[in-house]
Amino acid sequence: MTTTADTAPVVYNPYAYEMHEDPYPTYARLRSEAPVYRSEEFDFWALSRHEDVLGAFRNVDTFSNSWGVSLDPSAFSPDAHKMMSFLALDPPKHTRMRSLVGKGFTPSKVNAMETRIREITLEHLVPALERGTFDFVEDFAGKVPMDVISELVGVPVADRAELRRLADLVLHRDDGVFDVPQEGMDAALTLVGYYEVMIDERRRSRRDDLTSALIDAEIDGDRLTDEEIVAFLFLMVVAGNETTTKLLANAWYWGWRNPDERAKPFADPGRVADWAEETLRYDTSSQMLLRVTRQPIEFHGTRIAEGERVLLLAGSANRDDAVFPDPERYDLDRDTTKLVSFGSGRHFCMGAPLARLEARIALGELVSRVADYEVDPAGMMRVHSINVRGLASLPTTVVLR
Ligand code: HEM
Repeated sequence: MTTTADTAPVVYNPYAYEMHEDPYPTYARLRSEAPVYRSEEFDFWALSRHEDVLGAFRNVDTFSNSWGVSLDPSAFSPDAHKMMSFLALDPPKHTRMRSLVGKGFTPSKVNAMETRIREITLEHLVPALERGTFDFVEDFAGKVPMDVISELVGVPVADRAELRRLADLVLHRDDGVFDVPQEGMDAALTLVGYYEVMIDERRRSRRDDLTSALIDAEIDGDRLTDEEIVAFLFLMVVAGNETTTKLLANAWYWGWRNPDERAKPFADPGRVADWAEETLRYDTSSQMLLRVTRQPIEFHGTRIAEGERVLLLAGSANRDDAVFPDPERYDLDRDTTKLVSFGSGRHFCMGAPLARLEARIALGELVSRVADYEVDPAGMMRVHSINVRGLASLPTTVVLR
């Protein structure tokens, strides 16, 4: 017998807490029943199939970033680039900024950070491991990425804890609140003020850091202004901090849930990269990116008009069985090369090599020191954000090697 529940059309509400707990059954229904989903309530379309999400990422002529990449009312604005820099710009402005920043934020600059990233990792990891029981997010994963960004841009060690505190305030949302609270606004201003002073100092005296490199970046006489450098430094905090924290904790969590898979990197540290990649595919921290259409476009017989808001559900694309066989299985042996967790095309995550390096070092140090671990599910807390997926708290107990 067919019940009403079986036939009721799929409803996708990115604000619903059930969706934050587990969006994947809904994504599966979207992919098969409503690949061009329309929400009248929240005024958006959602694309959920891998082929459509990837196509939209690559089609910058139709899909614009100019209103930012988030549905959150505080972020959705034609001024989004003031806070989100070139993430919220289209070509040619995007191309100009990204090329200039790319002169300073180079792969060799990232690779040269390996030793310092390891030191930062151990600075937070060793005391936590010595305690035996600790909060994986609060004591470890939540600390490393912001300190790495500070190291990269040249924030002195003495100021880093304060910058971490400010960044946490900027990113923090009380449960169920999706707008930036006043405290977060104040912290953002303080952070911007800090970076302004730092840029001013570097203008007078360069150092071996990204801020100095950005000041000197030049293409055919064109240079970044102070405001542009500040906006980029701010973007790194927003785009590269929480996402990397969530990646580390998601790996720890899904490893715990899948002991046979976890056993692989613990037996062979050479497999930590597979652990990070499969976590990125299986449960990515950046679940969706918003676009606004610049011209009409049709998907599967449904026309989306110009000026519409479209969500690209990266979290769903990563579970599409057209690309990933048996997608609901967490499997470190699978081919993950087609994951879209870092986007694709012109806006492809500029920090992906850094995030991957951090994950390799952090997970590598963990498997070399820890023999086994448990997680306390009762103490786990999930963040309730519409685009960032991951844990706010993950109590864990380790048995050292
Ligand atoms: C696991 C960690 C990370 C994930 C899942 C992630 C995800 C993403 C995604 C999906 C985009 C594309 C957005 C779009 O198409 O609208 C993006 C862009 C970006 N990310 Fe990441 N990111 C991560 C880490 C980082 C780190 C560590 C940094 C730098 C410190 C960073 C800096 C950026 C920047 C600058 C952009 C904008 C690129 C552009 O618009 O051209 N990200 N990231």
